[in-house]
Amino acid sequence: MPYVITEACIGTKDRGCVDVCPVDCIYEGETQLYIHPDECIDCGACEPECPVNAIFPEEDVPEGMRSFIAINREIFDSDTPPGRPKK
Ligand code: F3S
Ligand code: F3S
Repeated sequence: MPYVITEACIGTKDRGCVDVCPVDCIYEGETQLYIHPDECIDCGACEPECPVNAIFPEEDVPEGMRSFIAINREIFDSDTPPGRPKK
């Protein structure tokens, strides 16, 4: 069960999560950052680093934001996949 970045990242993009991810599986898109679901090792390090609480383990994503589980997966198969985070 990977971790998932949700709505609060949009417009915030704090990037505090990026520095603590041991496998560099957090990528940046136009509007928010995304966790690659197949690369995430489920360590939990990123979750407390987000000042707006945008990160949840997949099983704990709040009801109204469950669509972000698919969004974090499908963005990597899109025509404009997210890339390495900008510093
Ligand atoms: Fe976004 Fe929070 Fe990371 S705002 S970039 S998920 S620290
Ligand atoms: Fe990375 Fe661990 Fe989060 S692998 S995306 S810091 S759960």
